[in-house]
Amino acid sequence: MTSPPTYRVPLSGRGHQYTDEEVRLVADLMRQADPMTQGRHQDEFEKKFCRVFNAEHAFAVATGTAALELSAILCRLKPGDEVILPVHTFAASAIPFGRTGAKLVWADSDRDTFLATAATLEPLITPKTRAIVVVHLYGLVSDMDPILLLARKHNLLVVEDAAQSIGAAYKGRPSGTLGDFGCYSLHTHKNISTLGEGGVLTVRDAEKAKLVPGLRHNGMRPFEGARERYWVPAMSNIDFDFEGFWPYNFCLGEIQCGLGSALIDRVASMNADRAARAERVRSALKDYPEVRFQKQPDDCGHSYHLLPMIVDPQALGRSRNEFMDMLVFEYGIRSDVRYCPLNRYPLFQKAGFGAAQCPNANSIFDNMISLPFQHWMTEEQEGYLISSLKGILDQFRSRRGV
Ligand SMILES: Cc1ncc(COP(=O)(O)O)c(C=O)c1O
Repeated sequence: MTSPPTYRVPLSGRGHQYTDEEVRLVADLMRQADPMTQGRHQDEFEKKFCRVFNAEHAFAVATGTAALELSAILCRLKPGDEVILPVHTFAASAIPFGRTGAKLVWADSDRDTFLATAATLEPLITPKTRAIVVVHLYGLVSDMDPILLLARKHNLLVVEDAAQSIGAAYKGRPSGTLGDFGCYSLHTHKNISTLGEGGVLTVRDAEKAKLVPGLRHNGMRPFEGARERYWVPAMSNIDFDFEGFWPYNFCLGEIQCGLGSALIDRVASMNADRAARAERVRSALKDYPEVRFQKQPDDCGHSYHLLPMIVDPQALGRSRNEFMDMLVFEYGIRSDVRYCPLNRYPLFQKAGFGAAQCPNANSIFDNMISLPFQHWMTEEQEGYLISSLKGILDQFRSRRGV
């Protein structure tokens, strides 16, 4: 058996490390939490999330995908409806909407921000459109005001996929609180993670928010009024919150919720570390027009969840794949590529969503390298990453005779 390769700069599956205090907190919760799901830590986490990120209503859920599933249900989508969403995103942005039977309509990305914009969304609106899914991809918050204006004009719901943008704001308003629903992920890769999986759904409208606890937990709700015999007629009632929508169990455990509350306190500082690192990488490469980075408009905050870099094969005289070959095989730096335009996957093609007019998204994906960007990369690794990128660019230049 060959041993797995080791890298001088790995691409970690873990976005951040835990402090000793967080580890102690988890150990204490493991000993003491009773119950271990749906107790006071869930309640505290949700209240703190609302306070810190200025959300109307927040619900801890098992995953970011679960948050998107609930938002898709709450949009009351049905076959015949249309949902517009960026083609350049992770599959979980789309699958919950596909499951409703609605038609998925793919929007192209802006060449500079790599995100869908009001300009790429508007031509796709038809009388059947019910909702727009906006994805703050790589952590950059979309230019929301023109999108919200468009939604208002056409009476559309707006779901923000804020899986990657926790802590980033638009004109001072936190991402995930700008539309009707905000869906955050606390998955292992993310800027904060509740032990590998986790998510939060925020809901603006109070009536819709009332439906979430039942949809999240098997339709369960307390009987009204005080009951001395608390077991009569049953411990709790079970009903549909939505006629016709069978509920789920999408709960997040108490230990994860307790940890989530503690991690909220570190979002701003870890995001600031990420932003400073992104700036150091970008400014080190500013004299190389062969590569470019995601443009950040003034009003749009960034969590720097990832640092995608686009190579210009014409200027470079080499392809993106040749650049990645050099990175991994010569320098021992593991990068990857993401996110493949969704219409190119069999899952969406087989479901009838294989067509898209998205030349920018295709070009972004085909020429991009997502650099290793875990929060806990060492200074030495960062320095090595920067010098290696410059080294490769210089080598390619000298081979071109520049
Ligand atoms: C853009 C985007 N949307 C949705 C998700 C789904 O989140 P989760 O993995 O927590 O289900 C992710 C991350 O995995 C993501 O990056």
